[in-house]
Amino acid sequence: MTPVIAIDGTAASGKGTIARALAKHFGFDHLDTGSLYRSVAALVLRAGGDPASRQDAIEACDRFKPGVIPDPELRTGPVGEAASLVSAVPEVRQRLRLLQTSFAAHPPGGKGAVMDGRDIGTVICPGATVKLFITATVEERTRRRWRELDALGKGRPYEHLLEELRARDARDADRPISPMKPADDAVLLDTTELSIDAAVAAALEAVRGKLEA
Ligand code: C5P
Repeated sequence: MTPVIAIDGTAASGKGTIARALAKHFGFDHLDTGSLYRSVAALVLRAGGDPASRQDAIEACDRFKPGVIPDPELRTGPVGEAASLVSAVPEVRQRLRLLQTSFAAHPPGGKGAVMDGRDIGTVICPGATVKLFITATVEERTRRRWRELDALGKGRPYEHLLEELRARDARDADRPISPMKPADDAVLLDTTELSIDAAVAAALEAVRGKLEA
């Protein structure tokens, strides 16, 4: 069986950066599962639909194909917000599930898979070789997002970003289906006090032991 590294965690916790770094280190393929939900959300918004509408989300799912939306469009704040609405629709999760389980079972390069999201270790790949759950305080994650947007010349008030992140955390953690939570056997990594390099090093340390076990 090809190894799978499952990385779940909160928004702006650093899980995407860690996932990419681990994939590069081990020569595994990476799937950012958030981009699947973001794509469905972007298709709803493009069609002038309502991301809170179950019907609009299901219809967008029918039009979804990987790579259909360019990355810059996926990375916007409104698409992230809309993604957390469409991702609570059971039919959307069901339809995106096969794509994720196939990737885990047959990563394109054949060596292994790194998948990051909210329910990889709990629902999509409960038998993953190693599971990480990454988080940081909401204030630190807000600062990171603030700095990111500021550097792009798209600065937003800190308080607004803080409220958005709190609301997104609550939606992701409180939804009845596939809520964001650490798997019982996940290694928890709090990146609040860590630089990117230190966070990647800590993740590598945790994974190395399990992959080689
Ligand atoms: O990780 P990212 O911020 O790109 O995810 C956007 C949204 O998609 C999350 O807030 C969450 O609601 C949803 N998502 C999910 N399950 C995943 C990945 C993302 O519900 N595996």
